[in-house]
Amino acid sequence: MSVKTVYFIEGDGIGPEVWAAARPVLDAALEKAYGEKKIEWKELLAGEKAYAATGEYLPQATMETLAKADLAIKGPLQTPVGKGIRSLNVTLRQVFDLYACIRPIRYFQGIESPVKRPDLVDIVVFRENTEDVYAGIEWSSESPEAKKVIEFLVDQMGAKVDPTAGVGIKPITPAGSKRLVKSALDYAIAQGRKTVTLVHKGNIMKFTEGGFRQWGYDLAEQEYAGKVVKEGEAADGKVIINDRIADAMFQELLMRPEQYSVVATTNLNGDYLSDALAAQVGGLGLAPGVNMGDKLAIYEATHGTAPTIAGKDLANPGSILLSGAMLLENNGMGEAAVLVKNAVEKALSAKKVTVDLASQISGSEQVGCKEFGEIILANL
Ligand code: NAI
Repeated sequence: MSVKTVYFIEGDGIGPEVWAAARPVLDAALEKAYGEKKIEWKELLAGEKAYAATGEYLPQATMETLAKADLAIKGPLQTPVGKGIRSLNVTLRQVFDLYACIRPIRYFQGIESPVKRPDLVDIVVFRENTEDVYAGIEWSSESPEAKKVIEFLVDQMGAKVDPTAGVGIKPITPAGSKRLVKSALDYAIAQGRKTVTLVHKGNIMKFTEGGFRQWGYDLAEQEYAGKVVKEGEAADGKVIINDRIADAMFQELLMRPEQYSVVATTNLNGDYLSDALAAQVGGLGLAPGVNMGDKLAIYEATHGTAPTIAGKDLANPGSILLSGAMLLENNGMGEAAVLVKNAVEKALSAKKVTVDLASQISGSEQVGCKEFGEIILANL
């Protein structure tokens, strides 16, 4: 069997400690499942560690290696404050065109949740990562740029805009929408999932959000005939594509989560929905994720650098560990991924957990990051 190279970036803040706790679990699961080496881990520098060594937050060597790579996993990276540098995470997503942010959200037994039946949630959110109001095209109120744009809108487009408004642009393209919906449909077909729901606010924003919805349906019709059907048509084991308006979808996910399986949505909707769903099952500490393009996938912890607890052996390694399990699952190492997920479940039921989870599991005992990793390892 071939050995896959996976690049890792430890990250800033709690990054190094959560990675140090998670990696031995991944290695042990691979050893147990296959009895041979399946992954060669290679470190890449980014963030504060890279700055200390090279004077750059995203060194050229890291970018050149990632440009040729298929698989990477990263801890959180701090956005350097006041140094004129934009978010390193956003830079990585944009440079490598990692257009799909994929976050599977499911419940782990024993965790206290704000809803009655968190166990009904088993949903994978595909969030478009490169377009929408995140494109960064904005001008502040009263700036010469905003005034110029407003002048154009009023004088040439006949729009009514208050001259003091701050202005932002929301670009959404057919190509950007279709490639995101395609990744969601391919995933649903490959994983035997029943539905893909396009979530949009097209009743109000007809040509952006409504466009997303229409292009999603167009794609399904043009490229998935025989594999995907519309809601209301006979499914016969095919994937059903439907759509929901975003505000209604927040209600649906709270009231009837069992009716949804894969969600494909625009950037801002996806940002809100994935955090809301994660909260519904008991928080972000155990939520994995990946940012994926056509070539490179960067798996990552969904939380930040948690500076107030960094270096104190308090952080929960669950998010990066489960992101690692997701990497295994998506790359032909599903047996090892199952071992990791089962071991996390067993560790939770033993009620010796990190501080964030201790507050959500009654009768639990608090352990450190390193020890929680060791407990999971012992449960493999
Ligand atoms: P954060 O996720 O670091 O912290 C939010 C809260 O959750 C804090 O109370 C923190 O202590 C807690 N927390 C987070 N992860 C935890 C873990 N694994 N175990 C236990 N508790 C945990 O978000 P915040 O404070 O908004 O951001 C801090 C820094 O992280 C910023 O520089 C931000 O830019 C960066 N960030 C990076 C991300 C990434 O690399 N993907 C994502 C989000 C933030």
